[in-house]
Amino acid sequence: MKILITGGAGFIGSAVVRQYITETEYEIINLDALTYAGNLESLASVDNNPRYHFEHADICNPQDINRIFEKHQPDAIMHLAAESHVDRSISGPAAFIQTNIIGTYNLLETAKKYWLTLSGEKKQNFRFHHVSTDEVYGDLEQTGFFTEETPYEPSSPYSASKASSDHLVRAWYRTYGLPVLVTNCSNNYGAHQFPEKLIPLVIINALIGKDIPVYGTGKQVRDWLYVDDHAEALRLVLEKGVIGETYNIGGYNEKTNLEVVKTICALLDEIKPDSRYKPHEQLIKFVSDRPGHDLRYAIDATKITQKLNWKPKNTFEEGIRKTVLWYLENESWLNNVISGAYRDWIERHYG
Ligand code: NAD
Ligand code: DAU
Repeated sequence: MKILITGGAGFIGSAVVRQYITETEYEIINLDALTYAGNLESLASVDNNPRYHFEHADICNPQDINRIFEKHQPDAIMHLAAESHVDRSISGPAAFIQTNIIGTYNLLETAKKYWLTLSGEKKQNFRFHHVSTDEVYGDLEQTGFFTEETPYEPSSPYSASKASSDHLVRAWYRTYGLPVLVTNCSNNYGAHQFPEKLIPLVIINALIGKDIPVYGTGKQVRDWLYVDDHAEALRLVLEKGVIGETYNIGGYNEKTNLEVVKTICALLDEIKPDSRYKPHEQLIKFVSDRPGHDLRYAIDATKITQKLNWKPKNTFEEGIRKTVLWYLENESWLNNVISGAYRDWIERHYG
């Protein structure tokens, strides 16, 4: 089986690629534009594997996408490439519209054209798996959960662009019969996440004694899922999901932002008892709220649990400890990201 993964140099994409290469015999083609969020150093452990191929390409460039489909003749595509950070979408939405909407449209068109040339089992088994977010549903008050039937009500330019892409994917299924799958997942955390996102940002700031910015009151709630559990769910949906269907993926780990931040601070107090920044909580600084900030996300993952027998393996307590330890033990990955040297690493390896 040959799977084309877009965005494989990103946080979740690299976790999926590493799992596929280490746990299966599949051939993986990683198509990635290497934006600021793409880091091939996260794939150093699989880079030399003959079943791993890298294609440096932009999903907004249809010629390149076409060439890659023709060259590799994939059996399936898992589409993760996106602009993914809400704050960046507020200060500069243009890239979000381009990559998340136009880029997804390009992929759908290329995939459709390619799929129509296939025959027999290869055509029947082809899948286009679109990886999306729970943010398309907007936000919740104190109670309730997002199900696959919750109406779309995106708040930020990021979530609106992801909602648009979800609609395009479903339209290509209904209109052209392209065999698609859609997943909408809650907040991921774990190793290799770019430190613009809350959890790695808190770890890094606490380690170097910088303020830890908490937006507004810090009472907003996110439903945290360990990234390797998400990667397993994605692989399961690609292989066993029913064509045309949507699966919500979540960790049943609702926490306020303040709880998350305090948990990380307490872990660092314990793991680094000699830190001069202890207690790390003293670094917390309440700052202006994110415009349009969603209050609460919470996923009802009953469908994927019942239909595909998926369950997250890591509790938040286990996952967050592993995550903090990973950042402490992978200083060179972290320093290369902070200094920007990971771009040189890419240059040295791929020219
Ligand atoms: P990320 O920002 O870490 O990685 C995105 C990757 O896409 C990078 O490697 C980047 O170089 C690549 N990319 C960006 N624009 C591209 C383009 N035009 N052409 C080709 N490649 C391009 O993102 P992530 O957190 O790993 O998220 C991956 C996917 O999962 C996204 O679609 C996101 O919406 C979705 N998602 C993320 C989360 C989360 O908590 N991080 C939760 C649910 C869904
Ligand atoms: O729910 C899924 C989404 O989760 C994904 O689709 C997005 O790609 C991903 O980035 C994530 O979005 P969030 O906006 O929830 O993640 P972020 O880590 O940016 O923020 C988590 C919460 O923490 C959010 O309520 C904002 C808050 N926050 C964030 C940062 C960066 C702070 O309080 N301070 C910060 O410095």
